[in-house]
Amino acid sequence: MRSARWALALLLAAGAIGGGALAACFSSHEATTAVEGTCSINLSSGVPGSTVVIIQNFAFGPAELHVPVGGSVTWLNCDQDSHSSTADGGQWASPLLAPGDGFTQTFTAAGDFPYHCTPHPFMTGHVIVE
Ligand code: CO
Repeated sequence: MRSARWALALLLAAGAIGGGALAACFSSHEATTAVEGTCSINLSSGVPGSTVVIIQNFAFGPAELHVPVGGSVTWLNCDQDSHSSTADGGQWASPLLAPGDGFTQTFTAAGDFPYHCTPHPFMTGHVIVE
């Protein structure tokens, strides 16, 4: 029950309870709650230096983000299909994430790291560590 565990952990981390309508915007800079199926997180209550990328509608959102050295990024699959977060240069590779699953990568070196979804190469993004 990996999916349920992720959803619960993220809910606990966010201090958010219960349902609600699917939020229209997933900007990491706005107080936004996304609820869809098992995928639920309050994006305004993250750990400092950490960022969440929501996977939805076959896209990474935000597709480009900045994190400090030592920060981490969590990809959360809010889609109905399975996806991955796979660095183009091999720095990280998530397992195939089922709907509701998440994957966290910590970045210890500065750089611009493009990545993609292995089953859907048109899904791309990049993490800028600075
Ligand atoms: Co995909």
